[in-house]
Amino acid sequence: MASPLQDRAFHVQTFGCQMNKHDTERIVGMLESLGAHEVSTVEGSEIIIFMTCCVREAADVRLHGQVASLKNIPLPPDSPLPKRLVAIGGCIGQRDGEKLHEALPHVDVVFGTHNLGSLPALLSAAIEERAFQVEVLDSSTGFPTDLPTAREHAFAAWLPIAIGCDNFCTYCIVPHVRGREKSRPLEAIVEEAEGYVAAGVKEITLLGQNVNSYGRDLYGEPRFADVLDAIDATGIERLRFATSHPKDLSDAVIDRIARLRSVQPSLHLPVQSGSDAILRAMNRRYDSTRYKALVASLREACPDIALSTDVIVGFPGETEEDFRATYDLIDEVGYNQVFTFIYSKREGTPAATWDDPTPREVIQRRFDSLVDLVQKRAFEMNQAWKGREVSVLVEGTSKRDETVIAGRSPHNLTVHAPLPSNRTATDLVGRLVTVRVDEARTWYLQGDVVSIL
Ligand code: SAH
Ligand code: SF4
Ligand code: F3S
Repeated sequence: MASPLQDRAFHVQTFGCQMNKHDTERIVGMLESLGAHEVSTVEGSEIIIFMTCCVREAADVRLHGQVASLKNIPLPPDSPLPKRLVAIGGCIGQRDGEKLHEALPHVDVVFGTHNLGSLPALLSAAIEERAFQVEVLDSSTGFPTDLPTAREHAFAAWLPIAIGCDNFCTYCIVPHVRGREKSRPLEAIVEEAEGYVAAGVKEITLLGQNVNSYGRDLYGEPRFADVLDAIDATGIERLRFATSHPKDLSDAVIDRIARLRSVQPSLHLPVQSGSDAILRAMNRRYDSTRYKALVASLREACPDIALSTDVIVGFPGETEEDFRATYDLIDEVGYNQVFTFIYSKREGTPAATWDDPTPREVIQRRFDSLVDLVQKRAFEMNQAWKGREVSVLVEGTSKRDETVIAGRSPHNLTVHAPLPSNRTATDLVGRLVTVRVDEARTWYLQGDVVSIL
């Protein structure tokens, strides 16, 4: 019997981190394998799936508005369904479960982060029984990686090596909505990577909330360096990974970053704060001295490594002096990219119960001054690339100009170049080209293509 999902048009809106984006690829793969097809607009869809994020409050609030506004968008006229099906998954689905139906009565399906594989059955039941369906599990039985996938780009793949997180930073909801850290067996990771290499994938990004502790639950000790060795041996062109918790970044991993052919010279190393008192209150389990020593080791092993980081401004109790320590650390380290966040209270985390007397305007002023610094430093750091040739994996065209191709350098810098005269963008997407950089802006480098590999 054909699935009730056969021929249905679905649309997915994804928020949050790469884990969610990857989960979306699995959802698309699963639904397509049942005869449904993805469409790019809400208007054209009969089923809409929200892959949600609740790491900060703004995302939470936005979801409610978006779901509410769907009521005004009619279903495509040829649809046999009585109404557009609305499904909510991801981290808000996991956190709120059934409660979402009370707040948003026209939601038809809620699923969590541990049971992506149940989505087709839940959607089918919602169609056949015309009744609300919810399934949220406390922990997962398998990996979403056992499900079919439809990758966003043919030339790049995300590959989860572990799911969940054991670190319980005091501000963070992630361990509460993704569960405890669970590593995938090394053989399964390598097999998936080999499949990608055989399919012509050029770049693999290993995913985990803390890739550096990979294997602790499975093998009794972290084995991330072994993962890097094994994936490098598959012959993949470019290998990246995120995220690295500084407390678990080992000498062995630093050695692989410096030495392995495929491991790209860039690292995302979230610092969160430069103040030791705040780092302690955050339960990060490193101090600023240890963090700076790691940066020094990384630069010794791999002198031109590009670093990026995450920072939270306005953590409860942050004083002007604490903020100054963060500002100085960011200035001193010199990052190519800094993701700055204003602290957002998350119910259920320890920090949510801590009072903070700091006025909102003071936090905003600190945040703005940090953003100015980040831009100034990124601009300065990018100047070093002027006149150099960089290899660029072409991802598409610039958002503003379709005659300009855009991609990333080994250092994970965005590079723009005019499309060479005898080429189309489609020809070049997924290919490696060499660009000579002649202009360095704050967020990207610009130059001309000198050769196509
Ligand atoms: N596991 C990763 C990513 C976690 S979420 C890591 O540890 O780096 C991504 C970023 O969101 C975090 O690094 C942190 O800077 C930010 N973040 C998490 N919870 C937050 C909160 N409650 N308020 C503001 N920013 C937060
Ligand atoms: Fe959240 Fe900390 Fe885990 Fe990252 S390491 S996901 S910030 S608890
Ligand atoms: Fe957001 Fe969940 Fe990722 S809360 S950051 S989508 S793990």
